[in-house]
Amino acid sequence: MSKNKNNKPVWSTRINQKVSSTFQKVGSSLNVDKRLFREDITASIAHVEMLEKQKIITVAVKNKIIWGLKKVLNEIIKKKFSFDERNEDIHMSIEKRLFEILGDDAGFIHTARSRNDQVLTDLKIWLRKSTYEIIDDLNKTMKIFLKCAEKNIYTIMPGLTHLKNAQPISFGHYLVAYIEMFSRDKKRFMNNLENLYENPLGVAAFSGTSFNIDRFYTTKKLKFNKPTGNSIDTVSDRDFVCDFLYSVSLCSIHISRFSEEFIIWNSDAFNMISLNDKIVTGSSIMPQKRNPDPLEYLRGKSGSVIGNLLSMQTILKGLPLSYFKDLQDDKELVFDSFDHLKNCLKILRDVLTNFSPNKKRMLEFSEVGHTTATDLADYIVRDLKYPFRKAYSITAKIVNLAEKKKKRISEMSLDEIRSIDKKIGTEVLNVLKVNNSVKSKSSYGGTSFDNVKKMIKKYKKQIND
Ligand code: ARG
Repeated sequence: MSKNKNNKPVWSTRINQKVSSTFQKVGSSLNVDKRLFREDITASIAHVEMLEKQKIITVAVKNKIIWGLKKVLNEIIKKKFSFDERNEDIHMSIEKRLFEILGDDAGFIHTARSRNDQVLTDLKIWLRKSTYEIIDDLNKTMKIFLKCAEKNIYTIMPGLTHLKNAQPISFGHYLVAYIEMFSRDKKRFMNNLENLYENPLGVAAFSGTSFNIDRFYTTKKLKFNKPTGNSIDTVSDRDFVCDFLYSVSLCSIHISRFSEEFIIWNSDAFNMISLNDKIVTGSSIMPQKRNPDPLEYLRGKSGSVIGNLLSMQTILKGLPLSYFKDLQDDKELVFDSFDHLKNCLKILRDVLTNFSPNKKRMLEFSEVGHTTATDLADYIVRDLKYPFRKAYSITAKIVNLAEKKKKRISEMSLDEIRSIDKKIGTEVLNVLKVNNSVKSKSSYGGTSFDNVKKMIKKYKKQIND
């Protein structure tokens, strides 16, 4: 390879003219993929070690290149490295600097590899690390959810369907619902790891190489589990990118649904929770306002993150095998989604430590809307041995009567209830109390206080394991 002087691209012997300046600007991914510098250098070191072990390069050249790479690494860390977008991407930038440091011997580094397998190797290593980071953040978030749940086992609130009060539930039970979601998110991220542990390095441009390389050696060095099996698929494959983006999307959707609920509950109409100063912002004109902007941010960001997944899928859907420039956008989408999710999980944790449930209001509100009507129907089934449908219809009549009398069913007298069916027992008055309703939902996974306690215990153990 000729000396890489005067900022000429490595292909300048073949392509005499400079690429159009606009394309040079927009076609460069350096500003995005410079984030991969550590992974790129680590993978390059493993690559040259392998080349030397296989006697493709000499020990002297290997040592020289590794020394040079470490110098470059140090320069980047110490911010002494000058990034120049004319070098297109992080791979070319590092190679170019290596030439400046080592001269022609730097050119041995690219034997038996291509940027196509190089970028995939870097990205997979980065995604492995980042996946663990997100799992860690999910654990932290779930622990805070658990703490909140533990404090609110006996906090009764209305459970909603169709945004209408439906049945009373434990607020702790509601919070544990999100622990279930985040546990599934965690599992989803973990499931992605298997593909991230397949080593793309060594498939070169897309058809393999005639050099006697040892892909198992780099696999071990770079802590992969095995080399990828088909060179063409390897450079074309961005399934692992979609998997990551999908996992981020779904996790963001969970965060968004939670945010939406908290926005509603914080509204003056619901007034079920209060937000501390740390998680509200004011209005420029209305001095009294305390707006839940952070929650709205969380809800909004899920949109961008879902968009990133759709962008990647759209880029891929009509793309022939194998490498095309189209694929270069993958990193921007991955980094963007990762950054958003990290921030969102952090903000979510801030929300959880800076709100308080308005317990009195929650309890009061849980009585609104005849929320124990199902309990009444169930009681009639048990007490009078009626089929459920008959009990349902009797209960509906009692609700109608209550409404006529402008009462809640829980406020009805025994006589009033018995005016619909005189066989109903006196126990009914207890059945209509929200506290007893929650307590009674002891079927596996139900909202009874005992169940919630058990679930919290189970998750505490699981998350700390
Ligand atoms: N920066 C490029 C990317 O991220 C690296 C691969 C370039 N390969 C190529 N044949 N132009 O996609």
